[in-house]
Amino acid sequence: MIEVMDEPKSTTPMPTPVREPLRRVGPPPSGEQPALLIEHATKRFIVGRKKKAVVAVNDVTMSIRRGEIYGILGANGSGKSTLIRLVSTLLTLDGGRVEVLGQDIVRDEMAVKQLINRVSVDAAFFKKLSPHENLAYAARLYGLDAKRARVEAIAIMARLGIGEKRLSRPVEQMSRGMQQKVAIARALLTSPTVLLLDEPTTGLDPRSKLDVQTFIEEVRDTHDATILLTTHDLDEAERLCDRIALLNDGRVVAEGTPAELMSLVNRDYGKEPTLESVFMTFTGKSLDDDLDDDKNDDDE
Ligand SMILES: Nc1ncnc2c1ncn2[C@@H]1O[C@H](COP(=O)(O)OP(=O)(O)OP(=O)(O)O)[C@@H](O)[C@H]1O
Ligand SMILES: [Mg+2]
Repeated sequence: MIEVMDEPKSTTPMPTPVREPLRRVGPPPSGEQPALLIEHATKRFIVGRKKKAVVAVNDVTMSIRRGEIYGILGANGSGKSTLIRLVSTLLTLDGGRVEVLGQDIVRDEMAVKQLINRVSVDAAFFKKLSPHENLAYAARLYGLDAKRARVEAIAIMARLGIGEKRLSRPVEQMSRGMQQKVAIARALLTSPTVLLLDEPTTGLDPRSKLDVQTFIEEVRDTHDATILLTTHDLDEAERLCDRIALLNDGRVVAEGTPAELMSLVNRDYGKEPTLESVFMTFTGKSLDDDLDDDKNDDDE
């Protein structure tokens, strides 16, 4: 739920109401360091002998506050995964810059790597390993104490309803929902400030989808994490995301809270606003048209 940040515009003093702590939603106010700052990020791919490059990410700018869940919505090929890979330092920028808590991802790459973690459940390597092996691998990769990591891993898995017996079998034998949770749990071992989730719920049945969404909210609340996620699912974006950017052909065509985005369309058409109509308006496409994506995410 998004809290309204405006104070009442009354001039008479009112007793201070007891309210929940405000979630830090929206662009960071001036002076506050964003958890993630992306400025004019650009990435081109030149494929085959074609001279003309594909501009997968085209002059993308966004500033994300600590504690936000920020969603990137876009059709197939709109540049979502490329943007995630750029931020995770898996790809290099052709233009622009990215900062994580003020650290530049090129200049301070090692420091940034300690602050971010990317989850891609489709990595084949990840699936061949058991949850235990996965977590041990992650612990080694990040130089964590193996014993402590194991204890923590068991605790995280128990919270996800994965008993110790399941921890030694390959992840590929688990349901996709469970696999996704193990992937996120693995990323959590390093207590990342910024967690990058590329389509965390694609291909899940409704029940598992809900489970993973709830888990993502829990991660945000209990790990003080900032989460950048991509999705094809408008309902998911509306439920989970504090703010959303719509990506079309590598460009951000609209950005705001779900309510802000819907109010834009309402004003234009005078119709009941939905994120679907927002998406149609800004991209000229329907998200339902292109869910049959073939993935090639084996890049870990
Ligand atoms: N390694 C690569 N080499 C060449 N072209 C690439 C590469 N990765 C992505 N592209 C191209 O960049 C564009 C954006 O791709 P990207 O995978 O970022 O889209 P996406 O929004 O994640 O799509 P999807 O919803 O299918 O996951 C596409 O035109 C794609 O073909
Ligand atoms: Mg993708």
